[in-house]
Amino acid sequence: MAAAEGPDSLRARSEGGLGGASRTPHVDVDAIAREAREAVAAASTAAALEAVRVKYLGRQGALTQLLRSLGTLSAEERPLVGAAANEAKRELEALLDQRLAVAQDAERTRARAAARPDLTLPGRRPPLGIVHPLKRVEDEIIEVFAGLGFSVVEGPEIETDYNNFEALNFPKDHPARDMQDTFFVPGELLLRTHTSPVQIRTMQAQRPPVRVIVPGRVYRRDIADASHSPVFHQVEGLAVDRDISMGDLKGTLELFARELFGPRSKIRFRPSFFPFTEPSAEVDVLCFLCVGDGCRLCKQSGWLEILGSGMVHPNVLRNVGYDPEEVTGWAFGMGVERIAMLRYGVDDLRLFFDNDLRFLRQFA
Ligand code: PHE
Repeated sequence: MAAAEGPDSLRARSEGGLGGASRTPHVDVDAIAREAREAVAAASTAAALEAVRVKYLGRQGALTQLLRSLGTLSAEERPLVGAAANEAKRELEALLDQRLAVAQDAERTRARAAARPDLTLPGRRPPLGIVHPLKRVEDEIIEVFAGLGFSVVEGPEIETDYNNFEALNFPKDHPARDMQDTFFVPGELLLRTHTSPVQIRTMQAQRPPVRVIVPGRVYRRDIADASHSPVFHQVEGLAVDRDISMGDLKGTLELFARELFGPRSKIRFRPSFFPFTEPSAEVDVLCFLCVGDGCRLCKQSGWLEILGSGMVHPNVLRNVGYDPEEVTGWAFGMGVERIAMLRYGVDDLRLFFDNDLRFLRQFA
């Protein structure tokens, strides 16, 4: 049946459209080729072009199928349709290659543009930290004494019983040595319970005159609560020279109080006891909140207790090889947490150690 049909009659029958039982291979070639060119023209991305390739040149593609069905054509038709189909295939392949190259080029350009940093964007600001309030208070204390010619020295947190107690004139059975108060470290060592052992280290290492200020961490076996912590901070002061008097101590601490708590600040001494000072005094500052009238901060007393002090005990001077007939000295020690709590109105010491940024940022 197909053998009787020539190219001209095929064209005439092409009105029936593509495909179907009345399919006419030669017209199909032209129609498929036209349709494919339009599809290529409409495809703008590499993916769309690839879809066109599959649709016409893939294993199930229209041109592929047509080429495969050449065997069913008559001997006259076969070379004509075959040549046309192969020509259409080459043309389509060339067209696809060319368009694919263009699309891929455009896509690479777009990708490069997208990857380039946008120099007009605002910069990312690195987060700025703040000085911890305890460090800030410690720095302020140190600065006052540095201005008076004191040098800053530090000592180890793991100490000997000798430096922490013995040389500081603590009797062997003093309650502060107890398990209740002291963290012991294997090897007859301990975590220092105060910064006073640095007095001993300093005097052992140099001859008078001595003027040092000693910040540092100290440890006591206390359960943490609003006013206790097993670790806290102290600043120790020590001055030893010829003719150093209690009056020098008072004048120095008066100046310190004015620098730290304001020009209207006053101090008062109350008799006290420490094994390593004689006489000893507890020092209060006039409450900076009520200026002496009595308020919640000072518990209606008008005064705030801020430090312990006294004249260096002659036994301590002798223990470090100083002659108490020749030189005298005074010392004081204060708690940094306590001063920071008073200064900033913080009612729970644990807040300083919790590292809650909402708390800490208030000191920015
Ligand atoms: N070391 C004492 C304490 O921890 C304080 C102090 C230091 C007292 C120096 C007098 C002289 O409590």
